[in-house]
Amino acid sequence: MAGAERLICAAADLRAGDNGVRFEAAGQAAFAVRWQGEVFGWLNQCRHVALELDWNPGRFFDDSGLYLICATHGALYEPDTGLCVSGPCHGRALFPIQLVERDGYVYLVET
Ligand code: FES
Repeated sequence: MAGAERLICAAADLRAGDNGVRFEAAGQAAFAVRWQGEVFGWLNQCRHVALELDWNPGRFFDDSGLYLICATHGALYEPDTGLCVSGPCHGRALFPIQLVERDGYVYLVET
């Protein structure tokens, strides 16, 4: 059975390589970003130390717009796989949050 869905934001609020949208999932901080046309959701928790990634609320991408960056020690994560490709947690991955984009809105799939 599919989980219930909860509205997160309008699809237009997420632009590729731009600010993400913060939300809570099961009482934990999470965020959504758009990358190459698709929406991805991740727990907002670095895999080095369990701190939130964004240095300003919603700022998840680095200057290149290619990677998600942790504000604390600069770990870089792939926006689509969540894999850390550089930094102290190299090889670990962010925890995924299931999102669905439909009819101009993005929803959290609660399981
Ligand atoms: S807490 Fe994120 S890189 Fe150290």
